[in-house]
Amino acid sequence: MNLISTPAELMTKAEGILALNDRGSYTVPTHGLYPFQWNWDSCLVSLGQRHTNEPRAWLELHTLFEHQWDDGMVPHIVFHELDDGYFPGPEIWATGKSVPTTGITQPPVAGLAIRRLFEDATDTANAKRSAERLLPLVDRWHQWFYNHRDPERTGLVALIHPWESGRDNSVDWDAPFERVPVDGIAPYERRDLQHADAAHRPTKDQYDRYLWLVEHFRDLNWDNTKLHDASPFQLVDPGFNAILIRSCDDLAEVAEALGHTELAKRNRTMAQKGRDAMESLWQENIGQYACYDRVANTLCDSASIGGILAVLAGLPKARAKAIVKRIETLKEQVNYLVPSHDPSDARFDAKRYWRGPCWLIVNYLITIGLRSADEVSLAQEIEAQSLRLIETSGFAEYYDPMTGEPCGGSSFTWTAAMVMEFCQERHIA
Ligand code: GLC
Repeated sequence: MNLISTPAELMTKAEGILALNDRGSYTVPTHGLYPFQWNWDSCLVSLGQRHTNEPRAWLELHTLFEHQWDDGMVPHIVFHELDDGYFPGPEIWATGKSVPTTGITQPPVAGLAIRRLFEDATDTANAKRSAERLLPLVDRWHQWFYNHRDPERTGLVALIHPWESGRDNSVDWDAPFERVPVDGIAPYERRDLQHADAAHRPTKDQYDRYLWLVEHFRDLNWDNTKLHDASPFQLVDPGFNAILIRSCDDLAEVAEALGHTELAKRNRTMAQKGRDAMESLWQENIGQYACYDRVANTLCDSASIGGILAVLAGLPKARAKAIVKRIETLKEQVNYLVPSHDPSDARFDAKRYWRGPCWLIVNYLITIGLRSADEVSLAQEIEAQSLRLIETSGFAEYYDPMTGEPCGGSSFTWTAAMVMEFCQERHIA
């Protein structure tokens, strides 16, 4: 794959970054910009940790799930230690937990991570014990999604805050965000701009709306029986739903292996219902899936990576082929795959966070979907390009898909974890 470094050298560098950001029982995404435990970061990080220390990888997951809410939600950030380098901190969220957390969630990569940790384990006794402990917790989280974020039982869940998607400032949210007011929010000072270039981050207008939503949900005491319907922002993201569907399927695999047939059946049913419903998000004019704005009852006019990530859901053959075609089209317009937004759209911004840059974690999830759909050569190409980015620009948070320039935070944990996965090439279908 034309790399200067050997996989072993890349593994050693990646391991160094994981060690740098390791706080004992959890890992921070990067020093400074993100000083706490983030939900999907941790699940993805465990996939890297398993290559050098399996018990540590399981511990990352156990720590996250220790902070699961009573209603089943697993929060997007756990504020283990005080650190005023990040805004909005625990005092703004005010969720009332003994170890403070935010009040929203993030993409559930847990099922996928647990299956890989479990099936590839060398320490099988520990893997079995850990999986047994985590299975019911992840199952509750999956059920929480369908109970609280799909009240009309459509098979697809909605996000009530852009931060839940993990793709904070995607073009997908622009139109629905116009409905979110900004009046009455408390004055605030952003901290992210002390650590990263303002041109690479969300705008002030977006931040105002992020905060309005937080304050609105806080006023409703973070009661998940109310939040969905009370939110002016209810977005059905194909990428997020695909991750959830995959998490249900993968959890079911592990549950079957351990003899938990009821749990497995429940998760298979949730996954299948979601997969069937995905078809309603197909948008023919852009040749991919798109977000659905539940409040406005319309599909978003936005060709983002969310619609490509859909491939993780185990789609019908023709749809998977269409996604491959879509990635091939994007390839003609960039030097590094996969851009988080279509460069032919005027709203594309090569350096601004989720409006254009490529992210290795998304590349990784796409390659898993492609491999499951037997599209191995494109998956290999994305993996090779991802490793080339590391050689050119180091372990950044994200990269300009045109120049390969590093953007956002540096020494980034999940980027390192994905490099370890790419180097191992131990992908399962
Ligand atoms: C940013 C990303 C989000 C990630 C977090 C920590 O907010 O958009 O997906 O989980 O940083 O890395």
